[in-house]
Amino acid sequence: MMNIGIIGAGAIGAAIAKLLTQNGIKVGIANSRGPASLAALVAGLGGNAQAVTVQEASRADIVFLAVNWSKLPQAVQALGPWRGRIVVDTNNPIEAPLFKPFDLAGKASSQVVADMLPGAQLVKAFNHLPPALLANPAAEGGKRVLFYSGEHQAAKQTVAALIEKLGFFSIDLGNLEQGRLAQFPGGPLPALNLVKHS
Ligand SMILES: NC(=O)c1ccc[n+]([C@@H]2O[C@H](COP(=O)([O-])OP(=O)(O)OC[C@H]3O[C@@H](n4cnc5c(N)ncnc54)[C@H](OP(=O)(O)O)[C@@H]3O)[C@@H](O)[C@H]2O)c1
Repeated sequence: MMNIGIIGAGAIGAAIAKLLTQNGIKVGIANSRGPASLAALVAGLGGNAQAVTVQEASRADIVFLAVNWSKLPQAVQALGPWRGRIVVDTNNPIEAPLFKPFDLAGKASSQVVADMLPGAQLVKAFNHLPPALLANPAAEGGKRVLFYSGEHQAAKQTVAALIEKLGFFSIDLGNLEQGRLAQFPGGPLPALNLVKHS
């Protein structure tokens, strides 16, 4: 099993950590304030979770990035080289308290994030559902749908396999430009809570 790092331990980072650890996957989770500030969170997650530094989390085979949009540049500026490691972009270009969309100069949000991480294989996923829905992959007798997109086929397959292992139904939207369908705000898909019935 690949090792997994999570940068950002708020609503989304913690929800992803819970899903992964419940499925027997070990995670290292980090925030801006250091491992000591995460003691209560990792205690609640059990033995599969460890509080680590941002640097340590960034060296995992798969790195989830779950940080407030305005803080992303600061969070990743000292990281890398990425050497082809997979980064899962869970982020959306909007945040409290104003909830005013950031100006991306026409780019897809995950392209903006990819530009911050030269050499990483970025996959956009886990960004279009609120934490409460993300917490429950099994839904209404079926599997909750998670969309993913990216430029790197092997990385996408790895993330899709992880999505399925967690109990979701994964749908490939294509490349990062096509991933705009699941961009929030703007794309039509985040407004939908879809469940796949077999
Ligand atoms: N909440 C949602 O419904 C939702 C749904 C889908 C996607 N998203 C996206 O997911 C991302 C995270 O959202 P959230 O709701 O989880 O936010 P959040 O609850 O505010 O948590 C943000 C996390 O980012 C960390 N962080 C901030 N600056 C950092 C830095 N420089 N280095 C390392 N960590 C840093 C914070 O750590 P400290 O507390 O130590 O500063 C905190 O753990 C956002 O891009 C958001 O758009 C959110």
